[in-house]
Amino acid sequence: EKPGLELAVVSVPSYACQRHTPLLHHNTTLTDALSILAENAELSENEGRGVAFRRAAALLKSLPQEVRGAEQLRGLPCLGEHSLRVIKEVLEDGVSHEVETTTHSEQFKAMKALTGIFGVGAKTADRWFREGIHTPSDLQRSGHTLNRAQQAGLQYYDELNLPVTKAEAVAIGQIVERAVHAVLPGAEITLIGGFRRGKQTGHDVDFLITHPDEGREEGLMPKVVSWLEAQGFLLYQKTTGNSYLESKEGPARPASNMDRFERCFSIFRLSTDNEGTEIQTGLRSRRGLRSRRGLRSRRGLRSRRGMTLVVVGDHAQKVSWVLGHSQCSGPRSWRAVRVDLVVSPYSQFAFALLGWTGSKLFERELRRWAVHEKAMTLSSHALYDRKRTQYLRASSEEEIFTHLGLEYIPPCDRNA
Ligand code: GTP
Ligand code: MN
Ligand code: MN
Repeated sequence: EKPGLELAVVSVPSYACQRHTPLLHHNTTLTDALSILAENAELSENEGRGVAFRRAAALLKSLPQEVRGAEQLRGLPCLGEHSLRVIKEVLEDGVSHEVETTTHSEQFKAMKALTGIFGVGAKTADRWFREGIHTPSDLQRSGHTLNRAQQAGLQYYDELNLPVTKAEAVAIGQIVERAVHAVLPGAEITLIGGFRRGKQTGHDVDFLITHPDEGREEGLMPKVVSWLEAQGFLLYQKTTGNSYLESKEGPARPASNMDRFERCFSIFRLSTDNEGTEIQTGLRSRRGLRSRRGLRSRRGLRSRRGMTLVVVGDHAQKVSWVLGHSQCSGPRSWRAVRVDLVVSPYSQFAFALLGWTGSKLFERELRRWAVHEKAMTLSSHALYDRKRTQYLRASSEEEIFTHLGLEYIPPCDRNA
């Protein structure tokens, strides 16, 4: 081994679930490049290639300092030949030819635009692309028969592609809490997904619902959805039942990581008006921002009544633009937000919490670690020890990490 300018790191473990991966890191130029290639591979349904680029990017996200030269990467895991080539190119030239070609390619742009429609996956988008459909407008004009999800996805396309802010997530949380408590007092609601990992924006808002008395949560989702629908909070919803109760297989069949909770994919109608409880949160947090930091430059949207809205700053401008231009009827006092709801029995709560907090790569790495290093099967329902042929109970995420022989990684460090 030649002596090199190695990073001041003793060694970096190879599974992302063994590392701390904060949201903000030192190598965004490199990880942005690799993420484009990962996305392109996923859109081309080349999952293996996508995972390889994602693992390489995640490794770079976990490094304690900026990589300035390829020689610093010697001895680091997760960097395949292709990823290394891209990294070297970006380090030397500032850009990667392959990344540039990808971002400018008609196919990549079209696939991104089409899969950006809620309810449209890579397969469908690819079929449409081959028919010459490149944009949501092309699709609209094509006269294709769309399912309910896709119709909603097209109708709210611009809004659903605007990032959801933390303030909006909190506002949605209040509505979900009202709905859940109206139909099942004592139920517990937890914000999961990217917001639990500390992200300031997301593509949706995810919630996990449970009740301390096991069994009380059964059949909860349809009741919550009915309440929300009656109150006019839902623009779209698709609820899927709890197949674990229907099938009599016992908890989480080891070989499957298919999710079998009651869940609901939905689109909420979030008021951006000063009426209703949701705006209260926005106003409070906005005032908080102002008084703490004196951010006079932050603009709020103004509703028809001239009251300040939830959204602030650049985001407000984008919302204003979208709502002002996509609706002929003038400015609106609400926006569409994607919301995922999951109901879990109390005994499975820790597994559901761990499984739904993400990131997607972190979850994948946890399962890979469990299988390959521990001969265990991890799902969002349970952890099965194949050597002892038994399920391992856990009432907290910490206990699951302990069962897996891993150091506990808090949600804010699971941004792999
Ligand atoms: P943004 O929403 O883009 O901000 O990021 P996110 O990390 O919240 O992503 P997303 O909402 O897509 O998913 C949140 C977590 O739920 C991720 O860890 C996913 O792995 C997990 N998840 C999503 N869908 C499923 C599913 O069908 N089954 C299981 N078990 N987990 C899922
Ligand atoms: Mn999410
Ligand atoms: Mn989600």
